[in-house]
Amino acid sequence: MDKIIIRGGRKLSGTVPVSGAKNAALTLLPCALLTEEPLTLRNLPRLADIDSFQHLLNQFGISTSIAGARPEDFGRVMTLQATRLTSTVAPYDLVRKMRASILVLGPMLARAGEATVSLPGGCAIGNRPIDLHLKALEAFGARIELAAGYVRAHAPDGGLPGGHYTFPVVSVGATENAVMAAVLANGTSTLHNAAREPEIVDLCNLLVAMGAEIEGIGSSHLTIHGVSRLHGATYMVMPDRIEAGSYACAAAITGGDVLLAGARIEDMTATVQALTDAGIHVEQTRGGLHVAANGAIRPVTLSTAPYPGFATDMQAQLMAMLCMAKGSSVLTETIFENRYMHVPELNRMGARIETKGRTAIVHGVDHLVGADVMATDLRASMSLIIAGLAAEGETSVHRVYHLDRGYERLEEKLALIGADVERVGND
Ligand code: EPZ
Repeated sequence: MDKIIIRGGRKLSGTVPVSGAKNAALTLLPCALLTEEPLTLRNLPRLADIDSFQHLLNQFGISTSIAGARPEDFGRVMTLQATRLTSTVAPYDLVRKMRASILVLGPMLARAGEATVSLPGGCAIGNRPIDLHLKALEAFGARIELAAGYVRAHAPDGGLPGGHYTFPVVSVGATENAVMAAVLANGTSTLHNAAREPEIVDLCNLLVAMGAEIEGIGSSHLTIHGVSRLHGATYMVMPDRIEAGSYACAAAITGGDVLLAGARIEDMTATVQALTDAGIHVEQTRGGLHVAANGAIRPVTLSTAPYPGFATDMQAQLMAMLCMAKGSSVLTETIFENRYMHVPELNRMGARIETKGRTAIVHGVDHLVGADVMATDLRASMSLIIAGLAAEGETSVHRVYHLDRGYERLEEKLALIGADVERVGND
């Protein structure tokens, strides 16, 4: 397994390109199931999760082709076409590697009237149930049964009638599955307390470009008027607001000055607010988001929340930056039950973080010390990279396969803005 070695202490400066959003791409890709025509997605990030999803879609008989990407380019253009499905089963050995595979359930049900998907199981940050996915689909008329570790979903003959569902808690994936099931239903469906993340807006915008009729896009109340068929489209994946926020924290902790090319401030208002509260200069320019350290980092107190609140996917990265604040910050993780696994590793680098249940108190220190650290999940891994960039000496982040799931060509991008970083194999 590879590891990434960072020699810290350099101020990051320059321009870093922001890739297409992983969490948008993972819900746009299964939309290929909703039409027999070609779907072309531009600005797809080169990530392990995207490769895994492509492999899963190929399993169903969907053709995929990559075009227009030179090795040095960031992002790819992929054309997908589901002319004829050869399978409606998402098998365990694929789903267990990437739990976002569950996002084929809704569109497969809409397209084929049936879908069999392995239960994704939990992951490092929590047990990640999918009960809300299933309840929403049942509300839209699906018959759901669980057998031998699989979800088997069936639509009535003639397709889903559609229906109405109010989410008891906000769920990004369940909202995505429900929307993708409803667009081809025989009637109108409504979702209340739906997730409003920009990635869901991206999904709805693609579906509308394919001929879907959706009202309330961007709000927590969605109305979907089912149509009989959808056509192909060419669509640009939105920029990754979490990747952008991660590099912003890296620039801030190193006292740097970086332009995040292609980042959209309107997608990341809570992150920008947190950085601003921490004394970091952030402004939208024509080329993207300009982020510059501006004196000492100030402590911040916040809780993660569904959009437009502060993203849980940014908690670990912000915490790393706050390790160097002048004062104590208080972070509360309200979304997942086990998303502090970066804390012991940061403390091994000299941070002073105490966790009490879902709350972490980050006492700022005046320096961090490089160490060998272990990545446990995608965003925790990035927090260790961020800390290593500011730490004295050398930091080796092991198990970087976690990072490859969500950060396109990380070490190349860090090197672009002046980091002393290298990737070595045979860890
Ligand atoms: C998406 O996961 C993202 N993944 C996650 O990003 C992100 O952390 C999460 O949304 C929250 O923003 C993708 O988009 C591929 P949820 P998802 O359903 O859809 C509970 C990353 O680092 N819940 O909004 O799985 C759940 O346990 C990843 O890029 C149920 O109880 O998140 C959690 O506590 C990590 N039942 C809360 O809701 C359900 O049926 C929010 O989960 C579904 C969820």
